Amino acid sequence: MSSTAKGSVTVSLDGSNKSATLPLIQGSIGPDVFDIRKLYGELGVFTFDPGYGGTAACESAITYIDGDEGVLLYRGYPIEQLAEKSNFLEVSYLLLYGELPTKEQLAKFDRGVTLHTMLHEQLRTFYNGFRRDAHPMAILCGVVGALSAFYHDSLDISDAKQREIAAFRLIAKVPTIAAWAYKYSIGQPFVYPRNDLSYAENFLYMLNAVPAEEWKPNPVLSRAMDRILVLHADHEQNASTSTVRLAGSTGANPFACIAAGIAALWGPAHGGANEAVLKMLDEIGSVENIPAFIEKVKDKNSGVKLMGFGHRVYKNFDPRAKIMQATCHEVLKELGIKDEPLLDLAMELERIALSDDYFVSRKLYPNVDFYSGIILKAMGIPTHMFTVLFAVARTVGWVSQWKEMIEEPGQRIGRPRQIYTGATRRDVTPLESRG
Ligand code: ACO
Repeated sequence: MSSTAKGSVTVSLDGSNKSATLPLIQGSIGPDVFDIRKLYGELGVFTFDPGYGGTAACESAITYIDGDEGVLLYRGYPIEQLAEKSNFLEVSYLLLYGELPTKEQLAKFDRGVTLHTMLHEQLRTFYNGFRRDAHPMAILCGVVGALSAFYHDSLDISDAKQREIAAFRLIAKVPTIAAWAYKYSIGQPFVYPRNDLSYAENFLYMLNAVPAEEWKPNPVLSRAMDRILVLHADHEQNASTSTVRLAGSTGANPFACIAAGIAALWGPAHGGANEAVLKMLDEIGSVENIPAFIEKVKDKNSGVKLMGFGHRVYKNFDPRAKIMQATCHEVLKELGIKDEPLLDLAMELERIALSDDYFVSRKLYPNVDFYSGIILKAMGIPTHMFTVLFAVARTVGWVSQWKEMIEEPGQRIGRPRQIYTGATRRDVTPLESRG
């Protein structure tokens, strides 16, 4: 399904008799968009949109967000239903191919992905080159980029079969790379993947198992991990996905593109927020300190933000945050944690912020990361692994978006313009004459 013509918009330049008629187009849902591609050619002007808040950079049939209504759809299916009725591999199939799989399709896909869970043994040696205290995102970025040096038979992006194998390899190997980054940081032996376990179970197994003990999956924790993966699997043209698309638009290989996405995800304004939420809760310390902290957040000079709050697109609520909050309670109950001070603190912080005009008037609500950190902490996953986990989940979204872009007829290199504000043309004075 592609966008359709709906009408036109005429733009005229004040003080000149020039005007241009631009097509007005519509997608399957969402606001109409006017197509400015001919604007520069016809009027000699272009548009200015730092942060791209008013600009669509591509057509995509994968994910739809209505930020005002708090709606998130993967291929048309509401996130709440997918979180309840499907699992991460089903969602991966959906994102990649556009439809939910039948039982047979799922079994074949599962096998196709799990066949690739192991890493080339030579990749193990990479880990020894990192300091033990390296941030696992640094390791993930490096090792995923290095996959390009190991899998030469899936680098030809013009070959549909190779694109599919690269997609399977990335979805299958990123959890192994991520778990090994963690094991390396704590000095434990690497745990090889087990293909008889589900995707989420296998990831928990590689993170938590040790050769000296038998490891058994806990269904509640596996389900919670699966849900975290489903909720983070894609989120249309966010910063990291746009980075993957931009890198991919040059024809770079998929492993390099996903490494670029991982780098973009790392920042605290994006995937790093779940880690930042826990640091913030630790700093606040207790409920009585919340009012003073809120005052600091409201003071623009302090540079302090309420982490896990606010979103570029969601201006009502983040539907993922609601599911995350419920999952948080399930996990704490399963683990017998009756009293989790961080959860009490988070809930009180949320309550106070949501009744404060600063947050209400700016439409700032908890985002997906507000509760995910508490769940992960309860599951024994250390803070510096939180963004890594996000990257594991988002890999399928990045790959689906990359594949969609490569398969689009007439795909062009991404190349934004700028408003130049530097010096105008001038001549170079010889060094001896400069003073
Ligand atoms: N705490 C305090 N004030 C905030 C916050 C916050 N978390 N978020 C936005 N604001 C304020 C801004 O200062 C601005 O105020 P102003 O109008 O008085 O200048 C107003 O709300 C609008 O915010 P913008 O900066 O325009 O929002 P933008 O869309 O650019 O930023 C972002 C969105 C980056 C997510 C921001 O809300 C933020 O930094 N939040 C905290 C980090 C976070 O949780 N990120 C995770 C995002 S979800 C994800 O990546 C999975």
